Amino acid sequence: MDLTKQEQAMLDGKEGHAFRKSMEILVALGNIYGAERLIKVGSVQVAGVSYHNLGDAGLEFLNELAKDGKVKVLTTLNPAGMDLENWRALGISEDFAAKQNQVIEAFERMGMLVSCTCTPYLIGNLPRYGEHIAWSESSAVTFANSVLGAKTNREGGPSALAAAFVGKTPCYGLHLDENRMPEVHVKVKVDLTKLSDWGALGYAIGKKAENKIAYITGIKEADVDELKSFCASVVTYGAKPLFYMQGITPASETVNAPADHVTIEQSDIKNAYDNINDQVSDIDFVCVGCPHCSIKEIGEIADLIKSKKVAENTEFWVATSRSAKQLADKRGYSQVIEAAGGKFACDTCMAVAPLKGRFKALATTSAKGCFYSRQNLMKTKMGSLEECIDAAVTGKWNS
Ligand code: F3S
Repeated sequence: MDLTKQEQAMLDGKEGHAFRKSMEILVALGNIYGAERLIKVGSVQVAGVSYHNLGDAGLEFLNELAKDGKVKVLTTLNPAGMDLENWRALGISEDFAAKQNQVIEAFERMGMLVSCTCTPYLIGNLPRYGEHIAWSESSAVTFANSVLGAKTNREGGPSALAAAFVGKTPCYGLHLDENRMPEVHVKVKVDLTKLSDWGALGYAIGKKAENKIAYITGIKEADVDELKSFCASVVTYGAKPLFYMQGITPASETVNAPADHVTIEQSDIKNAYDNINDQVSDIDFVCVGCPHCSIKEIGEIADLIKSKKVAENTEFWVATSRSAKQLADKRGYSQVIEAAGGKFACDTCMAVAPLKGRFKALATTSAKGCFYSRQNLMKTKMGSLEECIDAAVTGKWNS
């Protein structure tokens, strides 16, 4: 790879340990993927924030970097393993909280914004069309590439950290226009009537697109909440973190549909629900906000749960960013949800909190949430927000 004088100096250790380590990571990655140079990035989004995933080895790695490393660009964090303020209410242990706080302190010393959300584009880390960025979280990477038209590979934890310190990333993969061309035309012939249908559609396309870039036609309209749900699902279930949606995403005007095509029928949506939903009726955990809830979604939850009560043996979590929660406080939504017995899970989510073995059966609106909750040994049910609120107040899946 061609390096500038400054990049070479960093690699030689002239700017300290964190920059040398970062350059070693970026050069190794660039050499593996045949990048000719590093390119500047407008922002970085770092995953691997939960102590549950990092463990002591990860914490030690971060503390080492934090000794002399400061980020050069706007850098936001993915969800942590707990609500950073209200962790006791979510049943997190003192020991876990102490370790998670050490992780967050290391990130703060590096100059990162402790945003702890997978929807950075809703809280101020919003790349422009065509901007190169280095993001990690798969749903956010897919949203940035496909909906916003920014350009990013799906970074691993260390490569995102390295990009944050250097302010650059190797130019390969989805940073190059020739690698961003659609590879399969997906003709959608279904009606989508509720939020979870977008997760089911993502499942169906993820399976049929088989790690290809999809050019999707047949979608009449989509709002940001539906698109973020779709982005989370389609990449979880197998597609590349980039798609074009004709008439919906701006970049779809710049490319043509490929000849190779697949069709999504109503039977594919039914098949998605059949695969995601287990045979279970008692629900002890309801969690919405995967990806993190927008303020609009929190308002919808408040409307639905007003004057109801969460069932005694069921927990109901609303996962969101702290910024969205602050807006919800001002608007009175939080008070309504908490009066009903719901809990806010700010800064965290059902996949990265230490939940293995704690709950038996989850109800959610999210296909991605079901995927990760099965790894946490839960049975799963996916349905509309109305069905999830009903499960929260009855402790049963009644559909
Ligand atoms: Fe976000 Fe966690 Fe879902 S990171 S996309 S809420 S699994």
